[in-house]
Amino acid sequence: MEQSGMITNNKVLPIAGIGTENLSIELTTRCTNECSHCFARAGRIDSPELSFDTAQGIIAEGFRIGYRHLHLTGGEPLLWPHLFGLLDGAASLGYEMLFINTNGTLLTPDTARRLAGFGERLHLSISLQGPEQIHDRFRGPGSFQKATQGARNSLDAALSVFIFATVGKSLVAVLPRFAEYVFTELPGVKGLTLIQLIRVAGRSVSEGFKPLANGTDDAHGLDRELLAPEDFVGMVRSAALLNLYGYPVTVLENPLATVAADLMEMPWLPPEPMLYRNGKIVVMADRSITLAHSSRETYGAYAPGALSAVLMSEDYARAVSPDTVTCPYCRFRSACAEKGMVRPSEWFRDRDGSAPYCKRVLRLIA
Ligand SMILES: C[S@@+](CC[C@H](N)C(=O)[O-])C[C@H]1O[C@@H](n2cnc3c(N)ncnc32)[C@H](O)[C@@H]1O
Repeated sequence: MEQSGMITNNKVLPIAGIGTENLSIELTTRCTNECSHCFARAGRIDSPELSFDTAQGIIAEGFRIGYRHLHLTGGEPLLWPHLFGLLDGAASLGYEMLFINTNGTLLTPDTARRLAGFGERLHLSISLQGPEQIHDRFRGPGSFQKATQGARNSLDAALSVFIFATVGKSLVAVLPRFAEYVFTELPGVKGLTLIQLIRVAGRSVSEGFKPLANGTDDAHGLDRELLAPEDFVGMVRSAALLNLYGYPVTVLENPLATVAADLMEMPWLPPEPMLYRNGKIVVMADRSITLAHSSRETYGAYAPGALSAVLMSEDYARAVSPDTVTCPYCRFRSACAEKGMVRPSEWFRDRDGSAPYCKRVLRLIA
């Protein structure tokens, strides 16, 4: 039976839609790619990873709270030695959806067949950073060939595969061509999911992190690739048109894209929820609890009971509730509210602090 609330301290706190919300776990930060943009490994010297018992405890607690969708990420989840044990555990608990983010490099025919054993509830995202030249520039030489082979092995095993593409300036320029490649060369792919490239805050050397990108407080120097408002509009235009011509393309957890598409009278982009939203929670490999995989703002460390405690906390409620400072006075507020965008874009979209990113994008269109 679908649960829509959680029971803690004998109180039932309704969280609308928790049964279709993701409980996300970053299993490990170890990886087979060396991505120059990665928010998970940004600047890290150490490589934390969860123990099997901790991960099993998290999924059991999540299930009691009402989660039915489990999202596993990394690092590279296929490098985590307990992955299949955890999937078995999740399936026997009754999770209805198992979603794994992978870079595809370890998806041998055998591994793909084993994953297919979990049936229709299991879905994979395989990351392609764009065409080979762009992909290998971000992820390391030879990685495109390995990722696309992994995707072919998965499709041959009849797995449900989405392609995740992180979009920087270089990809915007060739997006239609790349989409055509994905849907014709990897037939059977369920969808192309675009992720806007974002900045990653640095951490200090004294906390055990690498030095910051030159002249910034960021972990990676991504300035040349971050999307300026005109690039964002270009991405949205291509994504909307691709949908019009039958290619299922979405812009992940970024309702600004749908608002922008509608303002351009290109209403073909599917709706997406906000990045930070009530019920969403991520447990990272170092056990810190965050609102998004890309975020380093933490709501404490995981220990039994912590998921409920965070979901009920005032800090969490504040982070997911509608903005009361900027949005109420913005001329685009009703267009945004209609698409579920109830807060301005986050600070990490670009480096121009003159006005919120969303406002600069929408002004450009208006
Ligand atoms: C962190 S990876 C983890 C799973 C797996 N290793 C993979 O490559 O898919 C998940 C996704 O986050 C994306 N990502 C990492 N850093 C990013 C950033 N700075 N901006 C936007 N997306 C990013 C990756 O490109 C990838 O598609």
